[in-house]
Amino acid sequence: MLEIRDLHVSYGKVSAVRGVSATASPGRVTLVLGANGAGKTTTLRTVAGLSSPDSGDILLDGVSLTGLPAHRVLKRGISLVPEGRKVFGSLTVAENLRLGGLVASKKAREESLAMVYGMFPILEERQSGPAGLLSGGEQQMLAFGRSLMSQPAFILMDEPSMGLAPAIVDRVMDCVRDIADRGIGVLMVEQNAEAGMKIADDVVVVNRGESVYSGPVDEARDHSSVVLAFLGEAALTES
Ligand SMILES: Nc1ncnc2c1ncn2[C@@H]1O[C@H](COP(=O)(O)OP(=O)(O)OP(=O)(O)O)[C@@H](O)[C@H]1O
Ligand SMILES: [Mg+2]
Repeated sequence: MLEIRDLHVSYGKVSAVRGVSATASPGRVTLVLGANGAGKTTTLRTVAGLSSPDSGDILLDGVSLTGLPAHRVLKRGISLVPEGRKVFGSLTVAENLRLGGLVASKKAREESLAMVYGMFPILEERQSGPAGLLSGGEQQMLAFGRSLMSQPAFILMDEPSMGLAPAIVDRVMDCVRDIADRGIGVLMVEQNAEAGMKIADDVVVVNRGESVYSGPVDEARDHSSVVLAFLGEAALTES
């Protein structure tokens, strides 16, 4: 289990996260909802070891990861799919994937590559072409594939549907579900609450740097503050 306990993070004097708690479990998708600037990216980056917290704890199966640098967090089995995907457009698809597997042995890397190609056949078809020529949805699959290359136990995903055509969003969410169904714990930030809630198990709501709600997705759907804030008034009157 990956646990975030009462995390506080600031950028100089600007406090960005002030009391976020959340949990991710193997095989489950925890969806993190929150308005722009709520501190979602900061939370994920801090778990990944890219920012250091002022206080709070990050625990993997009860062992603290708090303050470890990013490469050590990755070695412990936690991988980040960053906001905006960040694929290397001039490298080939296969080269992008291999970069994700640098922490693994050569043998493990080849095994992971076969697994990723099995999950995303389009990446195998386009393996020798530049990643920059992939569509947005395909680039998101590449970003997922790259993170899977390190054989993580947990994947942190920052807004996987960002900038994608509505028709592609559900396909990307199905990929997220598929990743969790393989036993990986997913902690996913997503602005598209409706699409995210279709495949999530648990929901955490972050408001102005603080987690203010957490519970199973079915309860979140009935929780009027979650519905109002993220699904809109129409959803409230429908149900
Ligand atoms: N590098 C930085 N330096 C200073 N302040 C920052 C930095 N990055 C983020 N912040 C501030 O920290 C707060 C939280 O930002 P963060 O990016 O974590 O929010 P977010 O929930 O991911 O927002 P969004 O939905 O827009 O992606 C915001 O007030 C933001 O302006
Ligand atoms: Mg963000």
